[in-house]
Amino acid sequence: MKIDVLTIFPEFFAQVFEFGIIRRAKLAGIVEISAHDIREFATDKHRMVDDRPFGGGDGMVLKPEPIFAAIEWLLGTSDKAKYPNGARVVLLTPQGRQLKQSVAKELADETSHLVIICGRYEGVDERVNKTLVTHEISIGDYVLSGGEPAAVVLVDSMVRLLPGALGSETSAINESFASGMLDYPHYTRPAEYRGMKVPDVLLNGNHAEIEKWRYAMALEKTKLNRSDLLEGDNGEMWSR
Ligand code: ADE
Repeated sequence: MKIDVLTIFPEFFAQVFEFGIIRRAKLAGIVEISAHDIREFATDKHRMVDDRPFGGGDGMVLKPEPIFAAIEWLLGTSDKAKYPNGARVVLLTPQGRQLKQSVAKELADETSHLVIICGRYEGVDERVNKTLVTHEISIGDYVLSGGEPAAVVLVDSMVRLLPGALGSETSAINESFASGMLDYPHYTRPAEYRGMKVPDVLLNGNHAEIEKWRYAMALEKTKLNRSDLLEGDNGEMWSR
């Protein structure tokens, strides 16, 4: 998978993909990630990337021209109906559909070239959204100063689902959310620490019992922290 991030802060991404699973996936050639400065695509003499909103109001809005130029450079067209097969353009804003494991999975499965536009300021000119964007995504119900941290979240959640990214020692299939529930509790040595004991069931080697216990614990944790996950309506696939 090729990932291109469009941002006004390319330096933000200098180190962030250089750790752990993402770094390993890059080194293995599973993913290639580049960050591009939107300002490089501005053609006016002041290299303006933002302007005041029509209709008034606070803040500045990202201008369409540099973003259209960047998409044309990356995908050869600014008409989303003509994007190459496997190309997707994500706009990160608080107004998007919420990122879920199912969304990360769908994008990981169907995308060979992902372009991520990081929103900024008060917003992005809506013509970008209408014409260029295939998926408008929010990572949650809170407002970030810009889409950059959200881009890191999106990339991480997707790259670890790419074939080969996790290696053989672990699998994404049994993780939280893949099952529709939160994960069960984990323990490692020592078996007793400051008087706190690891549950006996994990020490006795009975795998059927362990599975039963883990399921019960996952269910209990999910009821306690995320009862919404048990009510269905979470795994829907979507795109536009
Ligand atoms: N930009 C600002 N807030 C955001 C959010 N919650 N998700 C994605 N992009 C954002």
